[in-house]
Amino acid sequence: MDRSLPSRWFMRPLLAGLATLVLLLMAGAAPAWAEFSLPPLPYAAEALEPAIDATTMTIHHDRHHAAYVANLNAQIAADPRLAELSLEALQGQIGDFPAAVRNNGGGHWNHSQFWMVMAPVGQGGEPSPQLLQAINASFGSLESLKSQFDRAAAGRFGSGWAWLIRRSDGSLAITSTANQDNPLMNLSGIERGTPLLGLDVWEHAYYLKYRNRRPDYIAAWWDLVNWNEVNRRFAAA
Ligand SMILES: [Fe+2]
Repeated sequence: MDRSLPSRWFMRPLLAGLATLVLLLMAGAAPAWAEFSLPPLPYAAEALEPAIDATTMTIHHDRHHAAYVANLNAQIAADPRLAELSLEALQGQIGDFPAAVRNNGGGHWNHSQFWMVMAPVGQGGEPSPQLLQAINASFGSLESLKSQFDRAAAGRFGSGWAWLIRRSDGSLAITSTANQDNPLMNLSGIERGTPLLGLDVWEHAYYLKYRNRRPDYIAAWWDLVNWNEVNRRFAAA
């Protein structure tokens, strides 16, 4: 008689159950955001062509954004407070951290929103009636918003971002930040608000295709704006 059969029959589910319990306990004990991770692009690298070419998208996401994530994670060992914060919560406290966290934490948040506020041509929808009403109240028209945004994006000296934000009083505004700063950050000199739409004007975002012609990149980028996502951010703000 094979005595191991009843033993296996009994032990396997028991061990599997114990393993599951341990995994569940570990998942409960560790915050889900203990380490930051690179989100995948929500579309193929070539999906935004011709406005943004596949090579630029691949390098931008797989190298630049990935480096911000890796460099931010490298800071966790030096400052365990980072392991307790979500990426968004970190932005509001970024002034309490050293420059490496500011640059890489900002870089991770900024790029994560950047991929989401773009969509292949024809798939981004239109501003919702509610958003359009707020745009008209703050800028007069969508065209006026775009021209103000274009000036902020083209006029940002060096590297940085242009933003459409919702202020705490409900009005909308165009702002610009240097480097990897953003309007969520608790830093002096930054107009704070909820970012609805952010455009990367670092040279790494456009130089392969547009060379030094940043205004051409900005003009082409408007065809990619994912208004469905901007509407969602506006409704949630
Ligand atoms: Fe970038």
